[in-house]
Amino acid sequence: MKTSLTALDLIRKKRDGNKLSKTEIEYLISEYTKGDIPDYQLSAFLMAVFFQGMDFEETTYLMQAMKRSGQDLDLSDIRDPVLDKHSTGGVGDKVSLVLGPLAASCGICVPMISGRGLGHTGGTLDKLESIPGFRTDLSIKEFKRQLEKIGIVMIGQTGQIAPADKKMYALRDVTATVDSIPLIAASIMSKKLAEDLDGLVLDVKFGKGAFMREYKKAKLLAQTMVQIGKRSKVKTIAVLTDMDNPLGVNIGNSLEVIEAIEALKGKGPEDLMEVTFALGAQMLRMAKIRGGIKMLEQKITSGQALDKFRQIIESQGGDPRVIEDYTRLPVAKKSVKVIARKNGYIHDIDTYAIGMSLVTIGGGRLKKEDNIDPSCGFKIYKKIGDHVSKGEPLAEVFSSHVRRLHTAGTDIQNMYTIKRGRARCRTLIREIIS
Ligand code: URA
Repeated sequence: MKTSLTALDLIRKKRDGNKLSKTEIEYLISEYTKGDIPDYQLSAFLMAVFFQGMDFEETTYLMQAMKRSGQDLDLSDIRDPVLDKHSTGGVGDKVSLVLGPLAASCGICVPMISGRGLGHTGGTLDKLESIPGFRTDLSIKEFKRQLEKIGIVMIGQTGQIAPADKKMYALRDVTATVDSIPLIAASIMSKKLAEDLDGLVLDVKFGKGAFMREYKKAKLLAQTMVQIGKRSKVKTIAVLTDMDNPLGVNIGNSLEVIEAIEALKGKGPEDLMEVTFALGAQMLRMAKIRGGIKMLEQKITSGQALDKFRQIIESQGGDPRVIEDYTRLPVAKKSVKVIARKNGYIHDIDTYAIGMSLVTIGGGRLKKEDNIDPSCGFKIYKKIGDHVSKGEPLAEVFSSHVRRLHTAGTDIQNMYTIKRGRARCRTLIREIIS
């Protein structure tokens, strides 16, 4: 791009609360993707957006520039309805691992592009890569071949598809610039709209374990993404779901894969299945496939959804024996239980702090270059509303490092608020925006 624009001027402009033009946003994103703007300048820009925000027009330009940084898929020769789901991120959220194969087993074509761990939340890619051999970096050719063959692919952003999001996502993860409506909306929609979808179902999380703690902000994020989808002529709906509690029991990369496989075997925890089925029913409705939740349940009971997951693992180079033999997944051998010190009801869990505790024991990244430890994690035995007796386990920490094990154990103990009286009942699915 021939221009006299400079990153420095644009960072200053956004820092001072001014609106950026389409050309300016395109310049920043294309130069950053090429490597001509360094990480430190983009980090400053992201922080400026975090504080000053972007209006809907700027958010749309940002999304378009990020999408244009790579190729759009052309899936016009696929006959089946092409749909995907995406979550804004939450602690213990392994819904994609269950719903992807489940939706594909119902005849929906799912070209899923996901992300790695982000902030205090885990990522689908890191979870899948805990399966020995599993590849998430397929070429477009491999991607299309697998989609035609088994109807689903689960990969990450690559150098070819949504490369700007790949780079910006990794930077936001370690610069405290995740929880911003324009940055989340542009990140999600840039990769989803590159997938040539007929429809998209978004799981927008609110509460302590989400990026948007406040319901009102989560709703605004949902409305922004639905609007972007609509403008791009992709049917988009958002389901707002409560993330005050961790989702399911297991948190941590390998542990979440195990829980997802259990769910596909019909043994998933109630909250995980409620969210999975709610989103799945919306996908079926969009795909004009009749059957609703009954059909989803039947695909699990019949083993077809699990079989689809096996096909994904095989096709992407992973070891499918993990499905029957969980010892093939890296799970830390050492664990300590976190024991309740008094009787009562769980009134609160600091789910954000649980997610951050996982990051600090190695389950996530504190710097871009960090390798993650897929074997560590937590099992959460007691959730908000549950009764607990003194001496009962609240949670269990898994790590191969004895010191980390005990530090995280003490941290988790402090993340629980236990009181005498009953706690307020919670609704998991709050609202659907379409
Ligand atoms: N998921 C994404 O892909 N991007 C975000 O910014 C948050 C969740």
